[in-house]
This record gives sequence, structure tokens and C-alpha cells, in this order.
Amino acid sequence: MTDQTWIPEGVDPERPSIARIYDFYLGGNHNLPADREAARHVVELTPELPDIMRVNRAFLRRSVRYLVGAGIRNFLDLGSGIPTVGNVHEIAQGVDPTARVVYVDNDPVAIAHSREILDGNDRAVVVHGDLRDAAAILADAEVNRLLLLGLGEPIALLMSAVLHFVPDDDEAAALVAAYRDALAPGSYLALSHAAHMPESAERNERAAETYSRTVAPMKLRSLEEVTALLDGFEIIDPGVVYCEQWRPDPEDVVAARDLLPQICVVARKP
Ligand SMILES: C[S@@+](CC[C@H](N)C(=O)[O-])C[C@H]1O[C@@H](n2cnc3c(N)ncnc32)[C@H](O)[C@@H]1O
Repeated sequence: MTDQTWIPEGVDPERPSIARIYDFYLGGNHNLPADREAARHVVELTPELPDIMRVNRAFLRRSVRYLVGAGIRNFLDLGSGIPTVGNVHEIAQGVDPTARVVYVDNDPVAIAHSREILDGNDRAVVVHGDLRDAAAILADAEVNRLLLLGLGEPIALLMSAVLHFVPDDDEAAALVAAYRDALAPGSYLALSHAAHMPESAERNERAAETYSRTVAPMKLRSLEEVTALLDGFEIIDPGVVYCEQWRPDPEDVVAARDLLPQICVVARKP
């Protein structure tokens, strides 16, 4: 790639980034040779990885539409990524232009590109933050201004393909609980997560180990382990399932074959 003017100052181009690797898998152009190199190592072990990312994005779209249908107009998207086709504000505002979205990410490229595409949209904003610091995210002025958190308004908290980057089970559970406690009753959580799947466990664990070593620590979790993170929520039908099983839409059917190792769930705070 010759044009690298999109790279914000301070980014080390030699260090692969979670956000830019994901962009590469989705066919975007905000990635660098170091990202593509790391991505290829992992794909050698799990060739279906780009398909996993696609079923993840398809779940994100279906769940946001479901949530707008359930009356939600405010979205807090943690680990939102580099914008690509079908961003949350496009989906939600496509159904109801009054919908509001706060994106949060800790990757400078994701932040810079999000700012660019959100310019002029007064109902969507991006915040540079670390979702592991729930207190800081929840105290953020933009988060509060746009989502009216203090006014008891129900929101949807999105944690799409990000919680597997919090490998410690206790920390992951404590984080979900901290956000849950700040949400008004009637709020929702939509979560997707890299799966430890019995059928393909050995292969996928090897890919996760490679990713942990070369990019960032991550942990695959089973259906039971993801369910254990949802304390205090009511799980919406069809439950904690693999992404293709969550309210499938004919638009998203890829091909008849085994389920992909990506778990998803929508849950509601009573
Ligand atoms: C695999 S991408 C998922 C993007 C989007 N949520 C989706 O599902 O299409 C994970 C994103 O989470 C971000 N991320 C990882 N750890 C984070 C953290 N501790 N705080 C904020 N963002 C984080 C990465 O920078 C990346 O953009």
C-alpha cells in the first residue's frame, strides 16, 4: 500500500492491531502489511475466519434491527471497530433517524475513521476509551449527553466480538456486571463472542493461541461460559446460540455446512 495518509500519528505500523486485522478479514482497506501477515498466520489454522467475521456482522445487523423493533433508540457500542458496511448508526438510523449511537474503541485508526464518517451526524459520536475501565466510560460526557444515562432511559449495550479480548473470566464477568448495574431496567445487551466449540476445539484453540501471541491475548469461551457472563439478565429467545442460529434471515444464509465458532445472545435487564 502506498497511500498511508489515513494512519494517525503515533501508530506503530509494525505492530498488528485487532481493529485493522478485523478490517482486513472483512475486505476493508485500513490495514497494513504487519496486520495482513498476522492475519494470514491465524487464517492458516482457521481458514473459515473471514466467514466467522461475516456471520458476526450479520448478527450485529439483525440484533440492532431487533432492538429498534423492541423500542430501543440509544446504543452504546463497545469495541466498535473501524467503520465498515453496515455500521450500527446506519442500521438503527435507517429504521428510525432519531436513534442515537455512541461508539467506543481504543484503536486510533478506528477512532480517526469513525470521526470522519460521523462528521455532521449529531446523533452519533465516537469516544476513545478502554472498555475495561467501565467507570470512565460510564462517566464520559459524550456517553451521558447522547444516551441520557442519568435519566433512566433504556439503552442497548453492544459488545460485539470484543469480550474475548478480556481473557480473565472474573474480569469479563465483573465488567458485564458493572455496565449492567448502570443501565436502566428494560435495557438490553447484545453480545457476540469467539467460541470454544467441542467439534473444532483443537484447531480453534491453536488459532487463538497464535492470535494471543502475535496480536493480543484472547480467550475462546463455550456456550456455558458465555451464559455465565449474563448474570442479572433475562435471555431473549432463541438463547445463547451460534450466530447463524440467532433469528436467521434468508439474506444472511452463506451455504449449508457446519456452524461457525461464534456465539451470540441478546439479553434484557428486567
Ligand atoms: C473484532 S473487532 C469487532 C468490531 C465490531 N464490534 C464488530 O463486531 O464488527 C474488536 C474491536 O474491539 C476493539 N477493542 C479491543 N479491546 C478493547 C478495549 N479494551 N477497549 C475498547 N475497544 C477494544 C478493537 O480495537 C476492535 O476495534
